[in-house]
Amino acid sequence: MTVHLASTDSASTVILRTVPELRGLTARWRAAGERIALVPTMGALHEGHMSLVSKARETSHRVVVSIFVNPTQFAPSEDFEKYPRNFDADLEKISAAGADAVFAPSPEVVYPSGFSTLITAGGPAKAGLEDMYRPDHFDGVATVVAKLHIMAAPDLAVYGEKDFQQLAVIRQINRDLDLPVEVLGAATVRAGDGLALSSRNAYLTPEERTVAPALYKTLCHCRDAILASGDPAARMASGIDQLVQLGFKPDYLELRDAETLGKPRLGDGRPARLLVAARLGATRLIDNIAVIAP
Ligand code: PAJ
Repeated sequence: MTVHLASTDSASTVILRTVPELRGLTARWRAAGERIALVPTMGALHEGHMSLVSKARETSHRVVVSIFVNPTQFAPSEDFEKYPRNFDADLEKISAAGADAVFAPSPEVVYPSGFSTLITAGGPAKAGLEDMYRPDHFDGVATVVAKLHIMAAPDLAVYGEKDFQQLAVIRQINRDLDLPVEVLGAATVRAGDGLALSSRNAYLTPEERTVAPALYKTLCHCRDAILASGDPAARMASGIDQLVQLGFKPDYLELRDAETLGKPRLGDGRPARLLVAARLGATRLIDNIAVIAP
């Protein structure tokens, strides 16, 4: 379904700071029979985020973009404090893209004093990928995403395949908690040299930025080799070696079933996904590609 009724007038993007404001606006839209899409983000918006807004606009009358750097998904050792924040630049991009509202709550709005509930995410959240290196990360993501789905009560919410395990976790909790929200996945947007766009790319030094696209190239080589020889284990090992030689410190390079994130079942036509995480200097990069398309 393609609907283009949301206003493209940049002056009309409303900024919402509280849950009653958000609920009030979405309730009015819903009462008018309008289809509402939510695009959750942590800000520092780039073309990857904006592609989610475009997808949301194609399928909905109204689009809400949320900007919230969610403290519960960062470990104490991670970059919560220095995570890039630039609300004015984000707002300009969101307005130019024709979104109707920005929901930008303070931490106290999302986690008021006395807040004491955290979702324990299972299934894909325990696939042995990101969870091995960021053990509490998906509980924080699951909690904030469930809250956002409940607070905004959208018809659909759009998430990027860039964070492939996160997308699987969100589908799982959305289903397990019977949240009446359709979850849409959107393809990864890349720079011309193949590097997946990420807010954290801003941490790369100019020299690291020239090396970083090798992560995607390694994924592509591995995919081609797996499809040609069908020996994933050997291909993963040489992919890891290649990354180490280039100066990366790989956390994992794994072929998984694209739906369960469990062991892949090559040969029976099920979609498979190759996922990688590696540190380059102080920056941790993740990426993934389809090996057998759905
Ligand atoms: P954030 O990293 O800001 O990403 C917001 C959304 O943009 C996610 O769905 C992510 O997968 C998507 N995205 C990021 N880079 C992309 C790219 N290059 N191409 C396409 N989509 C891309 O992911 C989060 O925030 C948070 O964990 C959140 C879901 C908002 C919960 O706090």
